[in-house]
Amino acid sequence: MGTLELREVSKHYRSASETVRAVDEVTLTVSGGEFVALYGPSGSGKTTLLMLAAGLIGPDSGSVSFEERDISAFSERDSARYRMSDVGFVFQSFHLMPHTSALDNATIKLTGAGHTLREARRLAQPWLERVGLGDRLEQTPEELSMGERQRVAIARALANEPRLLLADEPTGNLDSKRSREILLLMRDICHERDIPGLLVTHDPDAIRMVDRVHTLRDGHLLDGLDPELAALS
Ligand SMILES: Nc1ncnc2c1ncn2[C@@H]1O[C@H](COP(=O)(O)OP(=O)(O)O)[C@@H](O)[C@H]1O
Ligand SMILES: [Mg+2]
Repeated sequence: MGTLELREVSKHYRSASETVRAVDEVTLTVSGGEFVALYGPSGSGKTTLLMLAAGLIGPDSGSVSFEERDISAFSERDSARYRMSDVGFVFQSFHLMPHTSALDNATIKLTGAGHTLREARRLAQPWLERVGLGDRLEQTPEELSMGERQRVAIARALANEPRLLLADEPTGNLDSKRSREILLLMRDICHERDIPGLLVTHDPDAIRMVDRVHTLRDGHLLDGLDPELAALS
């Protein structure tokens, strides 16, 4: 069973005039089978924290580990392999390939992991169907709505059967019914496969669909839902 563990992790951005403590001394454990949300307003450090968990950036101090391997000590190559084969990452800005069908966008990690395109398409298609895009397989991102693009990004993240699910505002462009369905799908996957899932969001509805909520505020992690923030929502 895989566990994602952040221990006293800090990431600060320094410029000539100021230091932004984007993530500050965060300690968090997400065990296999748990779908956890970090709730926080814009600028609270959500994306930075997910990038640390994905090994896209390294911490200034503290450690990030997955399945007891220290992500922060990975070589470039091991880090890329970790993202390719272990992590399913739903990016806030989707990062879809332009002029490329939804189906082929969803195959990218599968072909990267060595499947033929034909095999990758066969594996990816059911995930597009599960996110409600069975009739949009051949559309390119330019032909899809923002919500549909978001769902392609979700199908892509799930298609390689990740051992860790990371999602950055995955419901930001979805209506409430679709949000609920997508979050239930993610939660079910975490439960069924016994993998850790970490969702960051400022959507107050999203946090109703998870097993546990923490609040992120100015880079600090607080247990549970910050009552002040909850009152705003
Ligand atoms: N590459 C960067 N360089 C400088 N500051 C950054 C960078 N990325 C994020 N920040 C700052 O760090 C803080 C947290 O940002 P971010 O992690 O994107 O928060 P969120 O995803 O919650 O909106 C913000 O103040 C943001 O401006
Ligand atoms: Mg963000």
